[in-house]
Amino acid sequence: MKLTGLAKEFIASAPLVSPFAIDATVGNGHDTVFLAELVGPDGHVHAFDNQAIAVNASEQYLAELGWADRATIHLLSHADMLGVLPKDCAENIGACMFNLGYLPGSDHLHTTQTKSTLCAMEICSDLLCTGGRMSILCYPGHTAGGEETVAVMKWYKTLDPKRFEILEPVSHQSALDNQNTASPVLLCLTRW
Ligand SMILES: C[S@@+](CC[C@H](N)C(=O)[O-])C[C@H]1O[C@@H](n2cnc3c(N)ncnc32)[C@H](O)[C@@H]1O
Repeated sequence: MKLTGLAKEFIASAPLVSPFAIDATVGNGHDTVFLAELVGPDGHVHAFDNQAIAVNASEQYLAELGWADRATIHLLSHADMLGVLPKDCAENIGACMFNLGYLPGSDHLHTTQTKSTLCAMEICSDLLCTGGRMSILCYPGHTAGGEETVAVMKWYKTLDPKRFEILEPVSHQSALDNQNTASPVLLCLTRW
């Protein structure tokens, strides 16, 4: 299975403990739609992307499914999410997904950046409620992604095991066997 599928499997591996979810990198909207289905008609997804093309396409995707009211897609960097999230999201996020990198089929120069990614991950890990789950998918195979993955992995290792259940990083077995450091890596954590 692809790591994007494994990320979804992890997020859906236990019942959602809160009606609120965050998609930190909207892209083509697949994760936003997945989370919108997960939270159901009474929940809400706050989703972020700083490219209008991603926001517009994903809003349309949700509308076509009849789920427009289940998500708010903010044209904003995930690092600035605290400025727009409603107060009832504080320590009340049941699921959060980061799928780093660039929008597939778009400008590869517009990619997630180490500084804002670290800032957003820190914010999101604090927003999780007990039992809340977070997945982070890193792509070290492109220039900015290499530096970003190293920083994200470093951050992941500093997480307090008393606050979080921290799963071993997941990569494809073939990548591990060949020590291919350019292969995507999936990180998964749960707030105790
Ligand atoms: C790999 S794509 C995400 C794929 C997406 N989750 C999906 O299901 O299709 C990464 C996205 O992150 C966005 N991005 C880059 N920097 C960002 C930032 N600071 N805040 C929010 N989104 C950002 C890019 O515009 C791009 O659309």
